[in-house]
Amino acid sequence: MKSPKLSVNPDKLNAFLGQALNDMGAAFQTALIILGERLGLYKAMAGAGPLTPAELAAKTQTDKRYVREWLCAQAASNYVTYDPATDRFTLPDEQALLLAVDTGPAYLPGAYQIIASTVVDEPQLRETFRTGFGFGWHQHDAGLFEGTERFFRPSYAANLINSWIPSLDGAEAKLKAGAQVADVGCGHGASTILMAQAYPKSRFTGFDYHEPSINRAREAAHAAGVSDRVRFSVAGAKDYPGKTYDLVAFFDCLHDMGDPAGVARHVRSSLKPDGNWMIVEPFAGDRIEQNLNPVGRVFYAASTMICTPASRAQEVGLALGAQAGETKLKEVVQQGGFTRFRRATETPFNLILEARP
Ligand SMILES: C[S@@+](CC[C@H](N)C(=O)[O-])C[C@H]1O[C@@H](n2cnc3c(N)ncnc32)[C@H](O)[C@@H]1O
Repeated sequence: MKSPKLSVNPDKLNAFLGQALNDMGAAFQTALIILGERLGLYKAMAGAGPLTPAELAAKTQTDKRYVREWLCAQAASNYVTYDPATDRFTLPDEQALLLAVDTGPAYLPGAYQIIASTVVDEPQLRETFRTGFGFGWHQHDAGLFEGTERFFRPSYAANLINSWIPSLDGAEAKLKAGAQVADVGCGHGASTILMAQAYPKSRFTGFDYHEPSINRAREAAHAAGVSDRVRFSVAGAKDYPGKTYDLVAFFDCLHDMGDPAGVARHVRSSLKPDGNWMIVEPFAGDRIEQNLNPVGRVFYAASTMICTPASRAQEVGLALGAQAGETKLKEVVQQGGFTRFRRATETPFNLILEARP
C-alpha cells in the first residue's frame, strides 16, 4: 500500500502517543480486573490495609508470584498504592467501593465483562460492517448478559426507587397502593425485582425476547423471595400481552429495538388511559459534539458493537444508537401516539424520560 501523504506536528504526535499509551494500559486492565474479581483479590484487599503479595496470596489461595505481578500492574494503574519501604500494597477505600462492593453505587467489574464480550464477538461484528446486516442481542457472547446485569443493577438500586419513580407524574402513589407494571426488555430482571421489593402491593411482569435472560430473571426473583408478585415471560416489545398497565418501564433498551415507533404504539395500547411510560436511556445530547466526552466515549463504543447491530437485526432496523438524544427519542414516542413527553430526571449516565397518552 502507498504511504499516505501526512504533515505531522511533533507536539500533537507526542500528545496522542501519550494518550494511546494510557489507553493501552487501560485496555490491558480488562482481563486483570475480571481475574481480580473472580479470584476474590479485590474483596480480600478491601478494608484489609497494606498487604504483601504473600499475604494476599494466602488469603485467596493463589500463587504469590502471580499475585505480585498483578499487584504491580494494579499499582501502575493507580488501582492500588505501593509502599516501597514495606513492600506492601493497599486498595484505597474509594477504589474498594467500586471494585469490591457489588452492592455499592457503582460496580466496575461488570463493565469489564461487557468489554471482554465485545472482543470475543469482534469477528462477527466486523462482518456486519461489510454486509450492513444486524447482530442481535441474543447472538452475543454470554458475558454481555451477565455483565449488563452486574454493571447496571447498582445504578438502578441507587436511583430507581429513590429518584426515578418519584420523578414520574403520580406513579409512586399508584405503585404504593397496588399497580400493574410491565418491565419490557427486562434482561435478567434486576429492575423488575427492585421495584417488586419496594412496592409489595403491586404486580410486575418482566418481558424480554431473549429466553435465557428470562430464565435467569425467574431464578433471581425466586432467590429474592418476590416470586409471589413478579412473573417473567418471553415476549417482544411489540407483542407482549396486557392492556391495563399503570406503568410500563423500559430500561436501557428502547434504542436497541428495530422499530421503536412500532414499540411505542404497542406500549400506548397496553397502558391504562392515565398510565405512565418510563423510558430510561443512556445520557446523551442531541448533537454528536455534545457527546464527545468520557461518558459518550463509552456509550458510542457500546453502541457500535451492541446497540446499533441489535436494532439492525430487528424489523425496520431504525438503529437509533445509544446516543440517540432526547429529540430523536421524543419523535419515535410521538409517532406511537403519545401526546405528552418530558425529561423527568437525569443522572450523569441516564436520561429518565416520561411519556403519557
Ligand atoms: C441493554 S439490555 C438491558 C436489559 C435490562 N433492561 C437492564 O437494564 O439490565 C437490552 C435488553 O433488551 C432486550 N430486547 C432487545 N430488543 C427487544 C425486543 N424487540 N423485545 C423485547 N426485548 C428486547 C434484550 O434482549 C436485552 O435484554
